[in-house]
Amino acid sequence: MLVTIKEPRSLIAETYRTLRTNVSYASIDKPIRTLLITSPEPGDGKTTTICNLGVVLAQNGKKVVIADCDLRRPRVHTYFGLPNRQGMSTLFAHNDIVPGVLKSTPVEGLTVITSGSLPPNPSELMGSQKIKTIFSTLLETADIILIDTPPTLTVTDAATLAPSLDGMILVVRPGITRTNALKQTLEQLRQVNARVLGIVLNDVPTKGNPYGYHYNYYHNYSAYKDYYEEKVVEKKGK
Ligand SMILES: Nc1ncnc2c1ncn2[C@@H]1O[C@H](COP(=O)(O)OP(=O)(O)OP(=O)(O)O)[C@@H](O)[C@H]1O
Ligand SMILES: [Mg+2]
Repeated sequence: MLVTIKEPRSLIAETYRTLRTNVSYASIDKPIRTLLITSPEPGDGKTTTICNLGVVLAQNGKKVVIADCDLRRPRVHTYFGLPNRQGMSTLFAHNDIVPGVLKSTPVEGLTVITSGSLPPNPSELMGSQKIKTIFSTLLETADIILIDTPPTLTVTDAATLAPSLDGMILVVRPGITRTNALKQTLEQLRQVNARVLGIVLNDVPTKGNPYGYHYNYYHNYSAYKDYYEEKVVEKKGK
């Protein structure tokens, strides 16, 4: 069960509300309406972050759609206990939003599109015109779409999709995500002109840890750019 649903008053849930505030203020003139979340390596916490962020955005009155575009190892359905026979892959095969694909959750305002059955060509789908059409149709009724993706070092799906979206957030696990993996990811995203809004430092160990969750911290990317570049780009002569 997601901590933001089960323990909305916990300090851990509060860290997701801080993330929500950061996302809301990331772009004042043109609010972020399509937000992708990815990470360099498997298991960094993308799905945990996106599901909890979706919950707190909806709790704040936004109409949110979480779209599971991890068409390799999808997990959003398990976080919400939803069936996964139909989902994103169903939409690629149809011209309209098929009834039953938009699944409601216990949180008012939060709708989920699970992955659906796994297609043979996820990279191609991520680069298609069709996915842009799907998102613009969803935005006729949703305020924001949160897009879960596979890790960047394994496949290029996130980097393929990112340039057509309003922004993206990278999730890393301090002490576990390899510096080199983060460096390669930032370079990959820079090459496609993806808009990196921020970096979530996930799973920062805490004393007590009463709900089995660890804290996350958010770094605004433009504010921390030098820090990350210094950290991830080897200095010449060293
Ligand atoms: N902040 C956290 N505190 C405690 N456990 C966490 C935290 N974030 C993630 N986890 C746990 O780590 C595991 C991996 O998390 P998650 O599925 O969110 O990662 P992912 O990046 O989406 O993985 P994948 O690359 O397989 O899609 C899960 O068991 C999840 O419960
Ligand atoms: Mg995941």
